[in-house]
Amino acid sequence: MSLNKKTLQSIEPAGKRVFVRVDFNVPLTDLSPDGQRAVSDDTRIQAALPTLRFLLEAGAAVIVASHLGRPKGEVKEELRMSPVAAHLATLLNGFVVHAADDTIGPDAQAKVSALKPGELLLLENLRFDAGEKSGDSAFSAALAQYADIYVNDAFGTCHRAHASMAGVPALVKPAVAGLLLEKEIHAFDAVLGNGKRPVVAIIGGAKVSDKIVILENLLPKVDAVLIGGGMAYTFLAAQGIAIGDSLLEQERIETAKAILVKANELGVDLLLPTDHIAADRFAADAQTQVVEGGIPDGYMGLDIGPVTQAQFATRAAAAGTVVWNGPMGVFEMPAFAGGTLTIAQALADSDCTSVIGGGDSVAAIKQNGLADQVTHISTGGGAFLEMLEGKTLPGFAALDDN
Ligand code: 3PG
Repeated sequence: MSLNKKTLQSIEPAGKRVFVRVDFNVPLTDLSPDGQRAVSDDTRIQAALPTLRFLLEAGAAVIVASHLGRPKGEVKEELRMSPVAAHLATLLNGFVVHAADDTIGPDAQAKVSALKPGELLLLENLRFDAGEKSGDSAFSAALAQYADIYVNDAFGTCHRAHASMAGVPALVKPAVAGLLLEKEIHAFDAVLGNGKRPVVAIIGGAKVSDKIVILENLLPKVDAVLIGGGMAYTFLAAQGIAIGDSLLEQERIETAKAILVKANELGVDLLLPTDHIAADRFAADAQTQVVEGGIPDGYMGLDIGPVTQAQFATRAAAAGTVVWNGPMGVFEMPAFAGGTLTIAQALADSDCTSVIGGGDSVAAIKQNGLADQVTHISTGGGAFLEMLEGKTLPGFAALDDN
């Protein structure tokens, strides 16, 4: 997917009302004794700041909207945007930041009308209205009447054809991509469009079933695929290798075989783990041993072993381009986090262009303080996966063509 969409460069925001859809679906802390919550990871808010600052400095009145969690069309006090608004106000120090306690109700309407150029208004959680998720045309129209220009900077939500993602940009013209969206699409293009060779995909995670479409889409585009995580065991079983009590998707064995054949036909190196950190049960304090080759009964592979870690790290070091999604082992248990952390370190040490997306892979990079040593960490979860699957994201498709 290349950026064939209009961007901020094509708009004249001075004096205009601009609706910016962001993805401020961020983790919050638990309730404090005085009933307050706070933003516990502001990566997504920080990522949208360049677009917001650009518009504010250009003299636009900026109406910002996001969802938070999955309130299912009802007002849920614990999913109000107020902690996000407070955090945004501190980050946009120097600008006036207002917050509304509804989206299309009287408070938002009054505050939109009163909003001055160079000021920002954050609406309440879009998903408090069932019309957001259903893509309701009346909800879209009510949001659309706020603005002269639509900007999508919510990469993480682009796989949702919701009212604010697809309905509003159909009504408000121009409808353009913000700087974060532009950056995400360019980063993706830099790996899977015309990445420097060799292009290596590192794919992990528990289940083959979650990654089949990704593997099928990637095989014709890459030179090597390194597979780790629970999903590797179905591939090993497909090759007739003993996997003991490791995670197995029996019904996916034929799919795994087909992917192995396809990789061979295309001349893609598909590397599976050759050794494992095997455990006698699925527990943080399980008895472990390093096992080479087949895994005996009574043991399950919970991480790639040291030989595989070194081999995968060497591949990452020699790559021109790497795209990485999914952990190499049970990352949440320290005894089985080593493979994932090794990949994170290898990417940080490599000169390759690296793009990383997905919860545990991103967590491994951040946990090691390596975020500024890789090329791009995607702010998308599901959206990043759908990009890897080769899908066109509806939020992106809804924007004006260039
Ligand atoms: C995400 O966190 O992946 C996005 O904000 C989308 O959230 P959703 O999966 O609830 O639609």
